[in-house]
Amino acid sequence: MRQVETLEQEVWGLSDRDVLPLTMTVAAKEAGSIWLGAFDGPHLVGFAFGFLGMEHGQLMVHSHMLAVRDQYRNLDLGYKLKLAQRERALSMRISAMTWTFDPLQSRNAHLNFGKLGVVSDIYKIDFYGPETSSVLHRNSTDRLWVKWPMASRRVQDRLQGKDKRAEILDVLPRLLPLIRFNGDGKPARTDLSAALTRQRIAIEIPSDIHSIEQKDPELAREWRLATRWAFTEALKAGFFVAEFCRTIRGKQGPGTYLLERGKVEEFVPDINHTW
Ligand SMILES: CC(C)(COP(=O)(O)OP(=O)(O)OC[C@H]1O[C@@H](n2cnc3c(N)ncnc32)[C@H](O)[C@@H]1OP(=O)(O)O)[C@@H](O)C(=O)NCCC(=O)NCCS
Repeated sequence: MRQVETLEQEVWGLSDRDVLPLTMTVAAKEAGSIWLGAFDGPHLVGFAFGFLGMEHGQLMVHSHMLAVRDQYRNLDLGYKLKLAQRERALSMRISAMTWTFDPLQSRNAHLNFGKLGVVSDIYKIDFYGPETSSVLHRNSTDRLWVKWPMASRRVQDRLQGKDKRAEILDVLPRLLPLIRFNGDGKPARTDLSAALTRQRIAIEIPSDIHSIEQKDPELAREWRLATRWAFTEALKAGFFVAEFCRTIRGKQGPGTYLLERGKVEEFVPDINHTW
């Protein structure tokens, strides 16, 4: 647990005061929370922490933290930690997991929607307040609240590599995004009322918001306000977030969220699987 503290400080740049207190982590573990570590020899290089919660009367795991040390990223460790969390939760007969992430983080969007198959119909403005001591929480702390229906056909297919993203890549170029990544790197808004009449909405984000935050905080703020507007308006109008694709128009570049009109429960019929 001491190594967790160190990793939290390394990954989020948290002040001492914002690190999870050791007494709480020990008690949470003892009380049935799921703690998983990825080790290189004796050294902790990644971890996932989820606690038990309730949503709409259903027992679920809320995954509060997932972190992988910088030098160990893009090696599937984050993915494998999520798979291990899923296995542990399913063995406790819990089939739903929730967590939050910053929708401007393209890497997390790809991991969550692309590799794991989450869905979301909730956008939280300034979830942890306008900022915290974390370097990842400087541009406000807006979050998508995602649900991972771990026992659903959608997630099982996704984990077996049966992925519908080829089909989605065909659809994306035909959609005029509500927020579009302009040639100059700025977010361009398109007409809201026209977008809301469609069956699908796209919202584009830059591929590396962290470097924009460091080089041009004002531009990063523009991205926050534009995407906040787009997500909140679309969700309010009855859309939900179904996918994220990081390749559009046949090339690497900004990523695109795909929102579908309708209820998440119709899109993932077994979302509330019970045993
Ligand atoms: C999020 C995090 C845990 C992911 O860990 P990881 O071990 O790198 O994850 P994985 O290797 O399983 O998956 C990363 C994926 O993102 C992709 N990726 C990397 N940079 C990307 C970018 N800028 N845009 C889109 N995708 C990107 C990788 O290619 C990989 O996908 P692939 O396997 O299909 O190629 C890690 O980046 C991290 O600790 N981030 C900081 C803390 C955080 O954001 N935690 C989660 C929210 S609480």
